[in-house]
Amino acid sequence: MKSTKPTVLLLYGGKGCEADVSEKGAIYLRSLIPSDSYNLIPVFIDKGGGWFIKEPGNTAPPSPESAVTPAIKGGLGGIITSDGFLWADCAFPLLHGDFGEDGVIQGALAAANIPYVGADNYLGPLAMDKAYTKIIAESLGVKCAKSVLAIRGSGLYGMDRAKRIAEETFGYPMFIKPARLGSSVGASAVLSEEDFLRAYSAADAVCDGRVLIEELVDIATEAECAVFRVKNKEIITDFGSISCNFGFYDYEKKYSGESGASVSDFSDIDPRTKGIMREYSSRLTDVLGIRHLARIDFFITKKGEVLFNEINTMPGFTCGSLYPKLLERAGIDPSWAVSQMLEDARGS
Ligand SMILES: Nc1ncnc2c1ncn2[C@@H]1O[C@H](COP(=O)(O)OP(=O)(O)O)[C@@H](O)[C@H]1O
Ligand SMILES: [Mg+2]
Repeated sequence: MKSTKPTVLLLYGGKGCEADVSEKGAIYLRSLIPSDSYNLIPVFIDKGGGWFIKEPGNTAPPSPESAVTPAIKGGLGGIITSDGFLWADCAFPLLHGDFGEDGVIQGALAAANIPYVGADNYLGPLAMDKAYTKIIAESLGVKCAKSVLAIRGSGLYGMDRAKRIAEETFGYPMFIKPARLGSSVGASAVLSEEDFLRAYSAADAVCDGRVLIEELVDIATEAECAVFRVKNKEIITDFGSISCNFGFYDYEKKYSGESGASVSDFSDIDPRTKGIMREYSSRLTDVLGIRHLARIDFFITKKGEVLFNEINTMPGFTCGSLYPKLLERAGIDPSWAVSQMLEDARGS
């Protein structure tokens, strides 16, 4: 079957630990993609990695008949459904973190000749790893928090060495987090040496063994911008900030309704600080080759210093998420932006 309208696979869920956020995002994204312009097929990926046609928000387990697999027919990509082959013009992998932003799904889509929105299978894994991203950022003159990477099982670069270097170069308090996970999973502050092992083990236990030990930044503001980038058009929005009066911004606070975290007005951050963040964002966007969308996150310290924190190549996309809010505030209709991304993906 081939639809007259372009067929878009909206991939959500996923094997990783951010499946719930992804599903919330899929509900919102579905509302942004007009059904008179696109034939949208929601594809849920379960924890086992299986693909199923299923509406986001439907809590019933997917039926075996709804199972699909990516495949190629006549040189073109699509999915094999219980009704036969369905050609797909492109996919929007709205998947976060591991098995989402790390290039795995992007590789599967590329192998099946399905064009897709977002970072490709080179940029995704690079941006997903905070340690690699920081090396690139620092090489561009973009300031970051001091850090040391510890690698599980490495004779040379294991925990003991990293702990010693961290103690010598910045000392306590520290902040320990997995290098390749999102949504604050496994992240915590360490106030003294007695607490080091607890925090380190908490990060190590939930990740693949790359643990980042950072100086604890005295954060006044966490500021973020949205990058929208399609052929011949690049927009880096103004910077929004999240006010946080309760320790750090963890998974619950990010996604629960009564978060206590709120997005401030753009005017809260002074023009000089914004200028620095804008310059840093331009360098990173260019060098990394951001595709379609990304959110770039910074810390502004209580002393007024700007530190780059991370890039999310598939930022949270729920109706309350910062990415669509930042676009809206910049005068960009998120629905229009999404259609531009889909067209750009199809054309590339
Ligand atoms: N070095 C640090 N010092 C103080 N707080 C930090 C530090 N690194 C991260 N945080 C806090 O933890 C949160 C999550 O860390 P982050 O690096 O953004 O990882 P992710 O969002 O991918 O889980 C940040 O939003 C911030 O509130
Ligand atoms: Mg973050």
